[in-house]
Order: sequence, then structure tokens, then C-alpha cells
Amino acid sequence: MNSSKITVAEISAMKSRGEKIAALTAYDFPMAKLLDEAGVPLLLVGDSVGMVVLGYPDTTHVTMAEMEHHIRAAARAKPNALLGGDLPFRSYETVSDAVTNAKRLAAAGAEYVKTEGGREILPQVKAIITAGIPFCGHLGMLPQHVLEEGGYHIKGKQEAEHQKLIADAKALAEAGAFAIVLELVTPPVAKEISAQIPVPTIGIGSGPDCDGQILVTHDLTGSFPWFTPRFVKPKANCAAEIKSAVTAWKTQIGAR
Ligand code: KIV
Repeated sequence: MNSSKITVAEISAMKSRGEKIAALTAYDFPMAKLLDEAGVPLLLVGDSVGMVVLGYPDTTHVTMAEMEHHIRAAARAKPNALLGGDLPFRSYETVSDAVTNAKRLAAAGAEYVKTEGGREILPQVKAIITAGIPFCGHLGMLPQHVLEEGGYHIKGKQEAEHQKLIADAKALAEAGAFAIVLELVTPPVAKEISAQIPVPTIGIGSGPDCDGQILVTHDLTGSFPWFTPRFVKPKANCAAEIKSAVTAWKTQIGAR
């Protein structure tokens, strides 16, 4: 193992040191390599690959085979960053499915797996951790539930939702999750959870007070211009760069 290889313990230590954790999605070899070279310690082959790479309308269409394919591609970059993958929709409905499928993602190269949900999937979470696979939770807006929820809604505004988020986060941390993604959680609730649990929270659209932040890299780099979440301020416009490179090349070769 490379001596600068990031481990789960290092991600936890960053919270103890008060260091913000930068996390981004990578779905293939070049992006995993570029983000690693840019010093991002935590990478995720998210099932958002379904939307920004595969052209599905939401993440519920992503299959295990697609996740394995993209995890293998990203893992070939052999990043120093800790590289994980999402268990896709309906791949962890039972304890047995959760363990079998988490092992498949680990065999493809995932150094941790992530699932969406709290206490309702605790038996699956505990079984994955018992099988020796590092686990990251995901609470708040759960994209795999977008159809039943009728959209991407902010979580934590009502008191019952607020208390459920705190209890779910504590339960996942006690079960052994090494980190928990908080998606579209109201900033005060995300701050409260981050203060109350010992493991790092990684926010997305959940305000500045999480222990780390994660974005879909295509949103950050302006590579999927047809939709940008409201909370993202893209730091590049790769879509425009690609179009302008193509236009320049067409001019160079005399094409119309
Ligand atoms: O699928 C994904 O990319 C994610 C993150 C953005 C948290 O789950």
C-alpha cells in the first residue's frame, strides 16, 4: 500500500483535527486520477452516474452491473483517495442482498460502500460492517426515493423530521458507519447532527457546518449544463470548453 493512501481512520481523524473533508464523485479512470492528483481524499462512485453519465432521469434505474463497471474503471486509477461506491436502488432490501452486493462492489474495487436510509436499514448496515466492509451512511433527501417522495425536498424543517434525522444519524454512527452523507438537510439540523455524532458528516446542499462537503463533479465543473442544483456554484464551464474546442477543430479542418 502506498504510504499516503487515505484510510477510513484518516477520514475520521480529519474530523478530530477539525479539518474539512473534500469529497467528490468519480465514475471513471481519468476523473478518479485527476481528482486524486488534485488532493481530494474521499471519492465516491455515486449512483448519480445514472443521471450525469448514463442519461437516466433519476438514480432508480442504475443496476449493480453498471455500478461494478464504473467502480472497476475508477479503481484502475489506484487513487490515494479512499474510493467507495453506492449500492444501487433495491440492491440492499434484505440483509442477504446487502452483504452479497456490498461484497460485489468491494470485489470491483470499492473500499467502502454507501446506502441510503437510517434505522429502517440498520440490520443491513450492521451486516455489511460485520462482513468487514467499511460503510458510509446517507440521510436527508434520499435520491433513490425520489419517485415516492415526488421530488428532491429539503429535510429537517418539521420537528418530527428533525428528531428522526438525529436519531438515524446516531444509530448509523453507533452501528459503525465511518461517515454519513447529509443531503439537503436544513443547515441548523446538519450543524446539530455534526456536533452530536463522533463520525464525520459530509454535506451536500446542507450548509457550511458539516465536517466535509461532497458534490457531483459534473455539477462542480459545469459538465452537465442541462441541470445544476441550486446549491452548486460551478467552478468551471467544461461544457462550453468542449463546444469551443470542437468548433475550433472543425474550423481547422475546414468542416462546416
Ligand atoms: O450518488 C451520488 O453521487 C451521491 C452523492 C452526491 C452524495 O450519493
